[in-house]
Amino acid sequence: MGAAWIAIVTARLSQHDDPVPWLSPKLGQARTMRWLTPEEVDLTLADPKVADPEVVEDPGVADPSMVCPVACIVISGPGGDPTMFEAYWKKMSERSAVTLAGSQSLSYNSDTKNLSWYLEPKLEQEIRRLHAIVSNVAVEEDDHYYIVVGTGSSQLIQAAFYALSQPPDAGDRPTTVVCAAPYYSAYPEITDLVRSRCFKWGGDARSFERDDEPFIELVTTPNNPDGAIREPVVNRPHQGKVVYDLAYYWPHFTPITSPANHDLMLFTISKCTGHAGSRIGWALVRDKEVAKKMIKFVDVSTIGVSKDSQLRAAKILETVSDSCSTAADIENFFVFSRNILKERWNRLRELVKVADLFTLLKYPIQYCRFAKDMADTIPAFGWIESKGEEDCAELLKKHKILGRCGTKFGVGKQFARISLVSKDEEFNLLLQRLSIIQGTDLNH
Ligand SMILES: Cc1ncc(COP(=O)(O)O)c(C=O)c1O
Repeated sequence: MGAAWIAIVTARLSQHDDPVPWLSPKLGQARTMRWLTPEEVDLTLADPKVADPEVVEDPGVADPSMVCPVACIVISGPGGDPTMFEAYWKKMSERSAVTLAGSQSLSYNSDTKNLSWYLEPKLEQEIRRLHAIVSNVAVEEDDHYYIVVGTGSSQLIQAAFYALSQPPDAGDRPTTVVCAAPYYSAYPEITDLVRSRCFKWGGDARSFERDDEPFIELVTTPNNPDGAIREPVVNRPHQGKVVYDLAYYWPHFTPITSPANHDLMLFTISKCTGHAGSRIGWALVRDKEVAKKMIKFVDVSTIGVSKDSQLRAAKILETVSDSCSTAADIENFFVFSRNILKERWNRLRELVKVADLFTLLKYPIQYCRFAKDMADTIPAFGWIESKGEEDCAELLKKHKILGRCGTKFGVGKQFARISLVSKDEEFNLLLQRLSIIQGTDLNH
């Protein structure tokens, strides 16, 4: 390969994303482009030459199809891969490790006496324990919640739609699923993927006007992408069901103002601890019949959920709960994560205010029951609005930052979402490139 340069794409470009315009046409269009493994990315990012990622010498890991005369690192992937948390888990490597013997996890079943027959008792115990410690859900009160575990909360979103919509008679319209814009960009795809006859995506909840029809409203709070604290907007409780997606209702992202006590709430380890790759989400469901239907959905679609992942998730949650004890000999996970995110937000805000190009939302300060102090929301994403330019994501793209365009969240192109939960190296590059757009190049 001689003196060739390689292109390294650390962002997750899904098939849906357009080819990247600043790459050579050969690479930008290449179908054979592969992703570097995390080890390869670490190795390359650790190389001092990468301080200016415009030129990265071939570190010997490239596949010939990736070689091109221009090198580039695309930063801030449009997805929300929560790699920021890796720094904490590296410190807790031994403490959070799980060893599984070859003789373990053979059966499909975990606890046949439980309604949720595939749920590992240890995971159930650790989910309840963590909610009680954080006090983000009223799990300890008289209310009883059934726990339904899924392969990520993505599977549970579909399971909830299945459980809450009526099997249609011939001629019936499917139940409309709505969410106030800007909404999590995966909701429309998740809803319509299998073209169900029971439910269908209806877009922005604020424009849902059909008075006589049943509906399901998704309420994401704090919201992805903009971190807003939300309540339902379609005010027709007798006709509609509400699914609360509380993926970000954890103290590193937002003050815990009161224990949530809704009928159906979704959580995910992806955002709580950063273990998106373990694919574990859970629903807290008040109504037994709804829980049964959700369990049936998981049963029929994947015959339960990986027990290996459940046991790992249990250990991770156990470590987080242990870290929150006042007698803990390890750093509090939420305090550690909040500090990093807070520092990132401060740096981002400082940078953005230098020039009048972008605006960022401001968040209220409230009392947090977990921190026992006042705190503000510090979302996992920056939701930026460009003041002058029509297309915010396009402007970022020209500077090698991949944001996700506002249109994917049901709003205009002047908005874009960038991730703040990437690794330090990626976040620093993001700020450096933003500073170039702002005309305050951090490098100079
Ligand atoms: C609001 C929200 N809900 C659900 C999910 C999906 O989470 P999981 O990884 O558990 O499927 C995400 C992921 O970004 C999210 O932001």
